[in-house]
Amino acid sequence: RSGKPTQVWRYRSKLLRGEPHTLEASAGGYLGPIIRVRRGQRIRIDLINGLPESTIIHWHGLHVPEEMDGHPRFAIAPGARYVYEFKVDNRAGSYWFHPHPHGRTGKQVYAGLAGLFLVSDDEEAALNLPSGAQDLPLVIQDRNFDADNQFVYLGGGKDAPSQRRGMMGGGMMSGGMMGGGGMGSMMAGMMGVLGDQVLVNGSIPRQREVERRAHRLRLLNASNTRTLKLAWSDQTPLTVIGSDGGLLAAPLQRDYVMLAPAERVELWVNFSRWAGAAEPTLRSLAFEGGIAMGSMMGGGGSLSDGAAFDVLRFKVSDGKGRDESPPARLSTIAKAEPLMAVNYAHPKVFELTMGMMVWGINGESFDMLGASELETVKLGTNEIWEFRNEGRGSMMGMVMPHSMHVHGLQFRVLTRSVSRKFSDEYDSVKAGFVDDGWKDTVLVMPGERVRVLLRFADFAGLFLYHCHMLEHEDTGLMRNYRVE
Ligand code: C2O
Ligand code: CU
Repeated sequence: RSGKPTQVWRYRSKLLRGEPHTLEASAGGYLGPIIRVRRGQRIRIDLINGLPESTIIHWHGLHVPEEMDGHPRFAIAPGARYVYEFKVDNRAGSYWFHPHPHGRTGKQVYAGLAGLFLVSDDEEAALNLPSGAQDLPLVIQDRNFDADNQFVYLGGGKDAPSQRRGMMGGGMMSGGMMGGGGMGSMMAGMMGVLGDQVLVNGSIPRQREVERRAHRLRLLNASNTRTLKLAWSDQTPLTVIGSDGGLLAAPLQRDYVMLAPAERVELWVNFSRWAGAAEPTLRSLAFEGGIAMGSMMGGGGSLSDGAAFDVLRFKVSDGKGRDESPPARLSTIAKAEPLMAVNYAHPKVFELTMGMMVWGINGESFDMLGASELETVKLGTNEIWEFRNEGRGSMMGMVMPHSMHVHGLQFRVLTRSVSRKFSDEYDSVKAGFVDDGWKDTVLVMPGERVRVLLRFADFAGLFLYHCHMLEHEDTGLMRNYRVE
């Protein structure tokens, strides 16, 4: 929107040595730069904290040593510097970066501290996927604005200055119904912040002009809490070519795709399939089982979780279309082999729990340096973990979706199951999972159990796993695991 821009990034290209196009501003919006690197490249990035509060950057999805991973114990004070230096070891894909100071991640990401980290490699290059202007990153976020077109952040965050404004500027009920004080914000701080304005690449899009030919769309859900159910408005199936950890083995067709906070999906689309004046629109469809309490109790504006809305309308250029189709084979992805796990017979269970107004995992909230025995793994081994979302400990039996992320690695999704009680909610989303490739974040629906296979390779140390609904993470739905 017009009005004063929220200026939070200050970056200078000389800080990144590499090919000249390594660092690319994302046009028009308030987000961070797009960083493009090649697999195998060593990079150095200096983080200089120009904020009035502590921060640290996490490279989401990257396989890096613990000191490079942006754990909150490494958060730096205002004015301080943190030097990142690591070799990019990931497959080609769409990764991203954002702050990770404990208790303030939601607020800082909300204010614009997030950017894409795009990795390319030889395997991908040989496929000749759409590139240049036909390689289109789309970062989707929901936000609330006040009467002065400034961000309103209704979540918490220690010493959060934006709360003052938030309380007055008002998403629906926080000020009024909850007494104008801490309660509305406390609830939003727990349940999650939902915005009623949808931003793409850091601005509110009207429409995007595209040529009548094939494109690669890289979608990132960088919302704090909102889950997306993406589809073409005219029910054209989506052609999915990639997920969190890069390209799939082969393109898949989906009527819609679920995208929880922090998940990525890559689509291949040939805009020449739409004739004449048709304006294909990417929508988020309605689904059941979203965060009802979020909007009721102060989570933000009028667009509830699971409500339908348009994300972006495309205007296709005139002229003759091109007859292009995606490669039939994209990559080699070995079959996920559960027998490789050292705990094959006894998967570890991580239950997402809620205590007296705090989230937890197996009843324990975040502990900066702690990891339990269950959370300790051996370097070089594989394990099966099961995330269970059955609302244990919650008030009124309330269960909401969570978006579970594990730092430092990419995992495989093995199985999903859901309790009968939540089968209606599940039925409204289940055809939209893209579980076939490598993942670092997985949507766990109410009543659901998701088993994943993880490999702890190369780096010992303390890493995080947590819900990527940022207000959940900030209020305790985060724990360490230790690789030793
Ligand atoms: Cu993208 Cu620990 O987060
Ligand atoms: Cu959560």
